[in-house]
Amino acid sequence: MKRLFICLWLLGGFAWAQPPAANLIANVSGRTTISLDGTWNTIVDPYEIGLGSRFYLNAKPKDKTQLVEYDFDASEKLHVPGDWNTQREYLLFYEGPVWYQRSFSYHKRTNTRTFIYFGAANYQTRVWINGKKIGEHIGGFTPFNFEVSEEVAEGDNSIVVEVSNTRSKDAVPALSTDWWNYGGLTRSVELVELPDTFIQDYSVQLAKGRQDEVVGWVQFNANTGQHEVTIEIPEAHIKQATQLTAAGYASFGFPAKLTLWSPENPKLYRVIISGDGDSVTDDIGFRSIETRGTQILLNGKPIFLRGVSMHEEAPFRGGRAFSEEDDRTLLGWARDVGCNFVRLTHYPHNESMIRLADHMGLLVWSEVPVYWGIAWENPSTLENAEEQMRDMIARDHNRAAVILWSLSNETPIEPGRTEFLKTLAAYARQLDSSRLITSAMNHTDSSVPGIRSLNDPLGEYLDVLGLNEYLGWYEGRPEDADRMQWKTAFEKPLIISEFGAGAVYGKHGDSDTRFSEEYQANLFEHQINMLNRIPSLAGMSPWVLMDFRSPRRPLPGIQDFHNRKGLISDRGQRKQAFYVLQKYYRKMAEGSSPSQGEP
Ligand code: GCU
Repeated sequence: MKRLFICLWLLGGFAWAQPPAANLIANVSGRTTISLDGTWNTIVDPYEIGLGSRFYLNAKPKDKTQLVEYDFDASEKLHVPGDWNTQREYLLFYEGPVWYQRSFSYHKRTNTRTFIYFGAANYQTRVWINGKKIGEHIGGFTPFNFEVSEEVAEGDNSIVVEVSNTRSKDAVPALSTDWWNYGGLTRSVELVELPDTFIQDYSVQLAKGRQDEVVGWVQFNANTGQHEVTIEIPEAHIKQATQLTAAGYASFGFPAKLTLWSPENPKLYRVIISGDGDSVTDDIGFRSIETRGTQILLNGKPIFLRGVSMHEEAPFRGGRAFSEEDDRTLLGWARDVGCNFVRLTHYPHNESMIRLADHMGLLVWSEVPVYWGIAWENPSTLENAEEQMRDMIARDHNRAAVILWSLSNETPIEPGRTEFLKTLAAYARQLDSSRLITSAMNHTDSSVPGIRSLNDPLGEYLDVLGLNEYLGWYEGRPEDADRMQWKTAFEKPLIISEFGAGAVYGKHGDSDTRFSEEYQANLFEHQINMLNRIPSLAGMSPWVLMDFRSPRRPLPGIQDFHNRKGLISDRGQRKQAFYVLQKYYRKMAEGSSPSQGEP
């Protein structure tokens, strides 16, 4: 009977969004891996002579007559994962190529394929194994992998990786950002061992708008012949089998009574997918997310997103955050403010951050770095943005915590841009129709005094509107918020995705003194009252959880190349505004919610 039901389900063409066409190996942390993290030899190469000099050969002079003008073993070391900027003072501002090399010993096994997997590397990466070119990657914040089964040798091996964080106008992001352009192998590097035929990717979620049906798909890396694949959720006594197509694909659906994932109860189920000689295990939460008018519904009930925006910057030591410890500190602080939501800006953060949010019950806004102005008319820039969107979705589409995919941040209203983002929105929906699409906009019509109206044409292509506004900091006085009304041209949920003010921890003065804690706290008081009066408000994520490094902030003694809009300093010190927001979120969580939605 059950098999019949599944076949019917299949026949019903309950086509779940097709698997992303990424060759990304899903859930690497659930596979057999060998870490290549640790100390690597490095050569800083500002003129990129390394390509011509073939650094990738890791050559050694055979005798005293031979000229080899580089020597990795004698070169300086860098730790991987980690940006180079905060590991060596003279590299703090460095933008250009750096060559990484390390040796590793490997034992080849039969019926085993070997891949090299990078959590991320900023920005352009080239990889060689034993002098043989393996592949290239563009994009600083998404994972990528290459097969190296043929290239790795039994015993000693040498891997050489060139990483360049040189900015360019056609890149994503382009030439200007308000965050530090940390370069390097910023996330873990590992070898992944898989059987000849393996599970490339899978999706297991609640059916859209349902709470009692699980649907999904499994995609093997190759043709498998008509084998069977099994989906098990042991704790729920679920074991379902279905047939793979010749192309190694199966979609499925079955009834299920599951405890739904929510911030109050972030319930995860162990899910085992196995078939055709491979098996992968994952911890997955089941929840539904949708909108109804100006409300966001989690598991069918309106929810208000009590959020904060944050960068992937390590607390205390600075630099790119990469460890679970970094992530736990940052998300722990968000939790302490009283958040049930985090806006991870402006690029996909590391995987452990998302998995931690799953465990902690923090809803997530995840974004690709289409930031400010980029080359809207350049087809390769669009392709680049699509690839980053694809890989972000491919890595995190089984995470219940992630509810929003964001296309961009603060982009100018111009035809090329809107067309670009319209295309990107359609692509994201094609890859994942189960989540909400949003974007952080910042252009409003202020032709009527005291009224700001969001009518950016981009809004039409979004499920949820994001709006960044800096009333009281970049424009006007904090008190102006008391008289400001906000309107939107779309009957959709609105998230105020940024507001804020700079403050140096420990700098005090009256509330008119810029960069004093009092100024920032006062601005938060007025902003909160203003936002409370917006009928379609479904959430907020003030700018920003923690002070972070920025090349655009040189003010000595105040900024010192840090954006100081954090609620918490980069040393973990809580500013007055932290407590203003905490008091508001705690009150909301106790039940006195703003205009709409469960607290
Ligand atoms: C912008 C932008 C942020 C930036 C912030 C600021 O809105 O989205 O990346 O850091 O404003 O100016 O502090």
